[in-house]
Amino acid sequence: MVRKGMKIVITGGAGFIGSAVVRQYIAETDTTVINVDALTYAGNPESLGDARAHPKHVFEHVDITSRAALERVFREHRPDAVMHLAAESHVDRSIEGPAAFVETNVTGTHNLLEAARSYWSELESAAKERFRFHHVSTDEVYGDLGPEDPAFTEGTPYAPSSPYSASKAASDHLVRAWHRTYGLPVVITNCSNNYGPYQFPEKLIPLMLLNARYGKALPVYGRGDNVRDWLYVEDHARALRHVLAHGASGRTYNIGGRCERTNLEVVHALCTILDELVPDEQGAYARLIEFVTDRPGHDRRYAIDDTRIATELGWQPAESFETGLRKTVQWYLDNPDWVERVRTGAYREWIDANYGQRGLAV
Ligand code: NAD
Ligand code: DAU
Repeated sequence: MVRKGMKIVITGGAGFIGSAVVRQYIAETDTTVINVDALTYAGNPESLGDARAHPKHVFEHVDITSRAALERVFREHRPDAVMHLAAESHVDRSIEGPAAFVETNVTGTHNLLEAARSYWSELESAAKERFRFHHVSTDEVYGDLGPEDPAFTEGTPYAPSSPYSASKAASDHLVRAWHRTYGLPVVITNCSNNYGPYQFPEKLIPLMLLNARYGKALPVYGRGDNVRDWLYVEDHARALRHVLAHGASGRTYNIGGRCERTNLEVVHALCTILDELVPDEQGAYARLIEFVTDRPGHDRRYAIDDTRIATELGWQPAESFETGLRKTVQWYLDNPDWVERVRTGAYREWIDANYGQRGLAV
């Protein structure tokens, strides 16, 4: 499904991963991107860089909980495909306030499916067959693993632990049902933890990085032995474009970084890079590590078996964790203006609420 001059609706294109996808499409292809984003606290048009003002980038300030607004977007832009990334994405926030997660991730996805279905059902047969609804999801829908368990495959039963992962699991089920019941041509991807430039500093890596830079405590939940599989965001964006272009309708693809690390290993790796690039006269950054109250329901380990995407579609990650982490640290050091602008009042309130209750002086 790669054609010259394609038009793709990308939801959540002002977020961390969505903006990477938009930047790649605009810089590397002749695709027109219709960027549908409500600009919540996590959305930031500045993350689009040069793509923001490009004639092939059209921004639609639309909330996916509004079905009427989505129907207008399909009517006006007549896309060849949809890539759906808009979501509430932070697990800790879902524990504090699950309602927004159900609204956006479940109801919003339902609205988008219905708007897409009504538009798709009127297309002529070749366009109808070519159309794709690509739903971007997470490995967290599979629940968690013990240290010796085999990695998640596309057949692993769903067992989400948090309100966030439960809402994403619900949205995956809706997408599969729309394929089976109505024949909507869908692809689903379930990816592991992303890191890289432009990530909102509520997530582990940018939070630790900025806290270290400001001489603040590095709050490791529990014992820091939970394991995540880390993927550089530009690799994920390439995988998503590859699946949209070559994935089979109705098929699910797991995406991972082949890079399992404990949280403590990640924080130490980050501190080592900072010690080298911006040494602190008070001593090594690792001295700032503090163990704080654990996340309720905290998943122990995620790991991805990427055999399907590797063998069927020939995709594999390009960046190693060491090079990707170094690039990420350098990007945050080089972009203090972006960082300052996202650390607004709303961000401060979240940090006070989440870490104050974990017994950390904030
Ligand atoms: P993010 O929080 O950085 O960005 C989400 C974007 O969605 C923001 O631009 C926000 O403004 C927009 N949005 C939120 N609610 C909306 C609404 N109601 N209507 C329209 N736009 C809305 O998220 P991210 O980390 O870039 O994740 C993108 C997608 O990838 C999500 O679906 C997430 O579940 C999935 N995912 C993320 C990761 C990860 O490690 N970050 C890993 C696997 C899958
Ligand atoms: O696995 C994919 C998922 O990865 C995505 O679907 C989510 O959108 C994304 O947020 C991410 O979820 P995690 O919960 O794994 O990411 P987070 O960065 O919040 O936390 C990573 C690990 O670090 C997790 O084990 C909790 C721990 N942690 C996190 C924070 C914010 C800490 O120890 N201290 C912290 O302050």
